[in-house]
Amino acid sequence: MARPIRKAVFPVGGLGIRFLPATKAMPKEMLTVVDKPLIHYAVEEARAAGIEEFIFVTGRGKSAIEDHFDLSHELQQTLAAKGKTEEIEQLRSWLPGPGRVAYTRQQEPLGLGHAVWCARNLVGDEPFAVVLADDLVLSETPCLKQLADVHGETGGNVVAVTEVPRESTNRYGILDIANDDGRLVEVAGLVEKPDPAAAPSTLSIIGRYILLPQVFDRLARLKRGAGGEIQLTDALAEMIGAAPFHGLRFEGERFDCGSKVDYLRANIAFALDRDDLRSEVAAFLRSFCSDLALHDR
Ligand code: G1P
Repeated sequence: MARPIRKAVFPVGGLGIRFLPATKAMPKEMLTVVDKPLIHYAVEEARAAGIEEFIFVTGRGKSAIEDHFDLSHELQQTLAAKGKTEEIEQLRSWLPGPGRVAYTRQQEPLGLGHAVWCARNLVGDEPFAVVLADDLVLSETPCLKQLADVHGETGGNVVAVTEVPRESTNRYGILDIANDDGRLVEVAGLVEKPDPAAAPSTLSIIGRYILLPQVFDRLARLKRGAGGEIQLTDALAEMIGAAPFHGLRFEGERFDCGSKVDYLRANIAFALDRDDLRSEVAAFLRSFCSDLALHDR
């Protein structure tokens, strides 16, 4: 029987170079989709999967994330003075409780594997989740909950996977497939950012993982991989054979918000998913698209 997943690690130390100048003075995880920062979606998804402890691996210039998940007395007082009790309730409703959030800093940008390793003492000796806020998933059942459910059945490491065009394999961790029932994939190997010609498949890892704590022993070797960085993918590849390892083709749509076009798509898709915005946004899109079609003629 697999142990429940109580802790999630959010690596949020990255610089967000692709989104400059938006990310010059603001963490990339604070970029908003509709009206919530990316990291807010990530934490909401984790809560919906039963996560109780939220561990952020931050870096310099990321204090806006800490402020976001803290009470703002000034804001509370201003809202109270204006009688905005609903807004106060709203703001409180999603705050993790006291002592449920922990921060540690990744002092050098040595890669995702290194960021996760920085959280080892906060995670301890239990299976845990890793959530990359750049990857946003629109789904019926929260993506991390889908993974946690699979982990409950299979144990071991579980990652969320999706097909990508072959020319994009050099942007992701790619699976070598042992067995595939169309939903669950048994993993034979993993390669970080392979050239399209060398990629063992086009099934890529997205930023959702359930991991065994033994991954920390592998990461502790601090071996450099693709791009000279300490790669989580490499540590996971070394564990194949020692523990079960599955990829889940999750239900839902993934938006890679590290890409500008996908970030824009996410804004539209999430707005269309909202009862308060759908009809107005749909009307705008219809008129926009018909103007565009006229233009293209
Ligand atoms: C990281 C992982 C990669 C994974 C990707 C998902 O890459 O190293 O294996 O496919 O996240 O978004 P990064 O986006 O940090 O380059």
